[in-house]
Amino acid sequence: MNLMGDPRQSQGTLNLPFAGPALTLAQRTNRWPLTAWGYAGWRRRSLTLLTGEAFPLAREAALFRALCRPRPGEGWLDAGTSTGFYAGVLAGAGCRVLAADLSAPMLAAARRQTPHPHIDWFLTNLEASGLPDAAFDGVTVGATLNETREPARLLAELARLTRPGGQLWLMYVGRTGHPLQPLLTLPALGGLTFPDPAWVARHLPGCARTDAVQVGAVVFERYVKAQG
Ligand SMILES: C[S@@+](CC[C@H](N)C(=O)[O-])C[C@H]1O[C@@H](n2cnc3c(N)ncnc32)[C@H](O)[C@@H]1O
Repeated sequence: MNLMGDPRQSQGTLNLPFAGPALTLAQRTNRWPLTAWGYAGWRRRSLTLLTGEAFPLAREAALFRALCRPRPGEGWLDAGTSTGFYAGVLAGAGCRVLAADLSAPMLAAARRQTPHPHIDWFLTNLEASGLPDAAFDGVTVGATLNETREPARLLAELARLTRPGGQLWLMYVGRTGHPLQPLLTLPALGGLTFPDPAWVARHLPGCARTDAVQVGAVVFERYVKAQG
């Protein structure tokens, strides 16, 4: 099943009504056109605010490229692409990308802001996408883990979608003990999750962590899925 390279896939799914598992408040707000409109501006500054040091997108892209070394021709899933930051980095490295998100307004903004012939846009909830096993050489997960309703289910799904020997790149806000974090986990205040890296490791079946970098509250990790 070739998921990338057939633009009808993304065009068709973008037009379907969304159906799937229940969503957190954070996920629902990402489906507002206003959130999609403002997202790229927030994203440019987000890691500087969350790490407490200068952390432009170019630094994040350089860290990702240095640790994951995406190669031309590889097929990647950008899980929760928003406006397509990781999708754009991957396409720039010559990869084919399925950029998936559950927000149609985010995908529409991404298509405008990060157009590239190697990127297909796909509207889905990745906790239950129905994509086939081992479909991707690599998966990027930029902060989607913080927002999804069932992070353990998302991680299991992303491990399933990665081919043996393939890699997963995670960027997320980890558990810090900051007093705001328990509040933001409340359903009415966002329903966010702030995972502990040891918890993440336990929930990526058959995957081994090869790299971990923490800057302030932000965790970057590379995992490799075991061969066969
Ligand atoms: C914090 S944003 C990060 C976006 C992007 N990865 C980046 O690095 O800029 C998280 C995105 O993931 C999407 N998302 C959250 N849970 C999802 C899920 N279960 N399936 C698909 N997309 C999801 C949201 O709609 C949102 O656009």
